[in-house]
Amino acid sequence: MSTESRFTLDDRLPEDYFTTTLHADVRHGLSSRPRTLPPKWFYDKRGSDLFEQITRLPEYYPTRAEQEILTRRAAEIAALTRPATLIELGSGSSRKTRLLLDAFTAGGTLRRYAPLDVSAAALEEAGHAICRDYPGLRVAATVADFETGLALSDEPGPRLLAFLGSTIGNFDAEQRRAFYRTLSRSLTSDDVLLLGADLVKDPATLVRAYDDSAGVTAEFNKNVLHVLNRELGADFDPDRFDHVALWNAEHERIEMHLRSRTAQTAKIPDLDLSVDFDPDELLRTEISCKFRRESLTSELHDGGFTVRHWWTDPADRFALLLAVPN
Ligand code: SAH
Ligand code: TRP
Repeated sequence: MSTESRFTLDDRLPEDYFTTTLHADVRHGLSSRPRTLPPKWFYDKRGSDLFEQITRLPEYYPTRAEQEILTRRAAEIAALTRPATLIELGSGSSRKTRLLLDAFTAGGTLRRYAPLDVSAAALEEAGHAICRDYPGLRVAATVADFETGLALSDEPGPRLLAFLGSTIGNFDAEQRRAFYRTLSRSLTSDDVLLLGADLVKDPATLVRAYDDSAGVTAEFNKNVLHVLNRELGADFDPDRFDHVALWNAEHERIEMHLRSRTAQTAKIPDLDLSVDFDPDELLRTEISCKFRRESLTSELHDGGFTVRHWWTDPADRFALLLAVPN
């Protein structure tokens, strides 16, 4: 079959997603203190490209650590799960996923890859490339928000649902609880969850991973301001904000902020909103929670999953776990 006929892209975002959700998120996040913005708005075309650059930075170890685990364990995961469908949430470039696709197609079971992401541009690019490189595979991509619109279509089972890159850490504890519940309810007893989670380690290593010397992460962080300028007619001047990454020891998470260099006012005409920043005021754009084996296993259990396998890279920086609905 041709590449075109094996690739589908289903846009499940509600027609008013950008107006309704973006407007509500920005109005709510910028009107409250401390000021916050939800991370999904980083990922327009430019944001997705910048994130891909982050994954190649010397300081950003999580991608390489997870890749090491996948390289060592993909064949074992294939033998344990024998999936007909690989679903992936927040698939982005799908680069690491290829290690799974190689093992699952070699195992002879895989028929379909179903990536889901909020970025249509990332899905288009990754989906076509995968169709080209895996001639027997159907690629059924879905544009959706996995926080609010997690509808898994009835893909052939058994299904392996992958959620890599420690994107789970971008949820706080309450959001994770809701997410596990929704997910465990939409999986059957034949399905499994493959989850990548970054582990607690020394704060200096963590902070460096989110504040690289080339300034790519700073550019990525500020990209959210470019998105607001374009989508809402706002007048943020990204040069008047500094990128800040800090370790929150109490919550064991990295926090990304934009710090206002001066007193300034940003106007957001589409929301009829004007936002005053004090000098040094922080706008929180992202959290990245770091995990420990015992507490992650236990929160998954409360959310409806039993952890069956736990693998780490040789340096114990990152974990990949396999869990089943309980
Ligand atoms: N899995 C890849 C990419 C991780 S970056 C890796 O491990 O390298 C996070 C990805 O999740 C991005 O591709 C982003 O577009 C997507 N994403 C973020 N929030 C989302 C949401 N609410 N719904 C769907 N996708 C989301
Ligand atoms: N899931 C990634 C992480 O938490 C996302 C990420 C990496 C990120 N670097 C970032 C998000 C910088 C915002 C800013 O590691």
